[in-house]
Amino acid sequence: MNIKDYLEQKRVAVDRYLDQMMPPTITPPTTLHESMRYSLMAGGKRIRPILTIAAAEAVEAEPPGLMAVACSLEFIHTYSLIHDDLPSMDNDDFRRGKPTNHKIYGEAMAILAGDALLTMAFDLISRPDLMKGCDPVRQVRIIQELAYGSGNFGMVGGQVFDIQAKNIDIDLSTLQNIHRHKTGMLMRAAVRMGAIAAGVNDRQLDDMTDYAEDIGLAFQITDDVLNVTGTREELGKNPNTDAERGKKTYPTFYGVDSTKKLADKCVAQAINRLSSFGPAADPLREIARYITARKN
Ligand code: IPE
Ligand code: IPE
Ligand code: MG
Ligand code: MG
Repeated sequence: MNIKDYLEQKRVAVDRYLDQMMPPTITPPTTLHESMRYSLMAGGKRIRPILTIAAAEAVEAEPPGLMAVACSLEFIHTYSLIHDDLPSMDNDDFRRGKPTNHKIYGEAMAILAGDALLTMAFDLISRPDLMKGCDPVRQVRIIQELAYGSGNFGMVGGQVFDIQAKNIDIDLSTLQNIHRHKTGMLMRAAVRMGAIAAGVNDRQLDDMTDYAEDIGLAFQITDDVLNVTGTREELGKNPNTDAERGKKTYPTFYGVDSTKKLADKCVAQAINRLSSFGPAADPLREIARYITARKN
């Protein structure tokens, strides 16, 4: 399989679905919808929804409501980026190749756009029309996965660990814990939600969860590397911000080259976790490789 074509094809499908779900900017409250759309449709790799789709495909399933389930993750992710960029958080000026949401709409609207995207994610996966045909027990499990992965024990918890580590001499296990939560937990939810929608058995769910945890860590380690090696044009966001803000990252501990090797090791381990799956899991395997090879 060609992973570039696969990712592009899925990205286009995700973008189309997001565009359909997001109210037009003429719908009141107009500024809120404009602000939500500004960040949601600004581009982005859509890696979390694609993971959900690939997880279902790994067992050759096409579960009802899969696009709603997949795209709910992009609503949560986009909200997390808007809030992450706020002056009280990372105070960033660029995201997805454009000025950050608060730079255009102001802080209050950016906070509210994030809140609304977060809430809309749960609307999406609860809607009877979008989720028609989904087994109700599975649907509740999916909703719970999204809540858990996003919240205090998941992504938000990780963001708290992250801001508390600023200008502090943290050790490696603390850093790993930050990464596993702020980035890893939403990716874990993405894979598990696709797997649950597809009706995998317990053993398969465990293997896919291990895979997701490995790639989640590899993803954030690679984000740390790109923060050092990438350009504004490639990344669509400013580089070197971690060092400027006194954030310890994997390259601070290991240097860039050894950090890349470490990320590759996580990826190899992730792929090993899928040994009981057949060729239908190749997209998951290729996504793992792509995560460290990417340039943005
Ligand atoms: C960036 O996520 C923030 C992290 C959690 C590392 P992505 O690299 O997936 O950003 P987009 O969605 O493609 O813009
Ligand atoms: C972002 O982590 C994690 C979330 C938004 C949950 P970072 O702050 O390290 O990522 P970038 O570099 O701003 O994308
Ligand atoms: Mg941050
Ligand atoms: Mg940030």
